[in-house]
Order: sequence, then C-alpha cells, then structure tokens
Amino acid sequence: MKEKVKIAVFASGSGSNFAALENACREGELNAEIALVMTDKPAAFVVERAKQAAVRVVAVEPKAFPTKKAFEKTVIDILRQAEVEWIVLAGYMRLIGPDLLAAFPSRIVNIHPSLLPSFPGKDAIGQAIAHGVKVTGVTVHLVDEGMDTGPILAQEAVRVVDGNTEMTAQSIHAIEHVIYKETLQKLFVANAIN
Ligand code: GRF
Repeated sequence: MKEKVKIAVFASGSGSNFAALENACREGELNAEIALVMTDKPAAFVVERAKQAAVRVVAVEPKAFPTKKAFEKTVIDILRQAEVEWIVLAGYMRLIGPDLLAAFPSRIVNIHPSLLPSFPGKDAIGQAIAHGVKVTGVTVHLVDEGMDTGPILAQEAVRVVDGNTEMTAQSIHAIEHVIYKETLQKLFVANAIN
C-alpha cells in the first residue's frame, strides 16, 4: 500500500485511543494520516491532545442544528472537503445517523470496551462488573445503524480484576491501544486499491 489512508477520528472524551492511533501513524505502524479530529464536545480532553499533536480539530455541536440531518450534513461536508476516506470512532458518544452511514458505507469503525454482543451502550465496563462476569474484553467492529451492533472485526478477552472497575478499565485501555491500530492496519490493507 503506497498512499496513506486519510482518516477522521471522532471522539467525545479523554482521547487516549486517539493518542495511540496518532502515535501509530507517526511510527509508521498504521499507514494512515489523521486528517482531523471531529468532536461534539469542544471541552473534551481529546481537543488538548490533538492540539499538542498538531492535528486539526473540528468541533461541531449537534445542539447548534435544528435536526440531526442538518448536523450530519455539515459533518459530511467537512469530511468531504478534507478528503477523509474512513471514520474511526474512539469514544464518540453519539449514534451515527443514516446520512453519515450512507456517505461512508462500511467505512466507519468503532471500538467498544466489552466482548460484544455483551454489554453494548454506555459504561460497558461498569455493566460487566455489575453483572459479575469474570472475563470481559474489547471489540473492534464496523458501524451500522444499531448501538454497537455492526460486523465484528476483532476481539480480545480481558480478565476482570477482582470486581475492580478502575483496574479492569486500565487493562482494557492497554489492549484497546494495541488492537485498534492493528485491526485498522489490516482493514486498510485489505481495502487498498492496487
Ligand atoms: C474506550 O474505552 C472505547 O472503547 C470507548 O470509549 C472509550 C474511549 O476512551 N468507545 P478514550 O477517550 O479513547 O480514552
């Protein structure tokens, strides 16, 4: 694969997965360029991380638009202008709507901190601990119209640390930061036009 794949990272939170992907791009482990970070939360820590890494940040707040359709039209226009090929969700806390899905068919990827289909939605680690499971994990999947329901690309199991949410979360994040870059690299190679 010669050309770097242009990606947009969508994030609403701390951005540790963004940082891991940005590092992987710089180190050449991921043959991609992060064209921009798209956030719906201008105060999120990912914005600081992106600025430090000199990656463009675009903050688009849904509340500034009358409808989800209008919000997504603006997002799509920005992505098209930046020639983005893939959308990589990394802690983006919003369901992708039909217009954005149609604009990037099978080209939106998500990472989720559980072994899907167990524990979809918010606070997956808390859900797993509350359920008393001994093993949870990480899933990377293509995004469809559902909540964490698209085709699974990769999974890895993580042992629950004695019902301890924080320590379990640490183990999960450590796995996420490796599995995401590796899965994306395989995906981009598989989809490259020779
Ligand atoms: C990760 O656990 C990811 O799986 C989930 O949201 C979290 C984002 O963490 N979708 P960070 O903002 O990348 O640190």
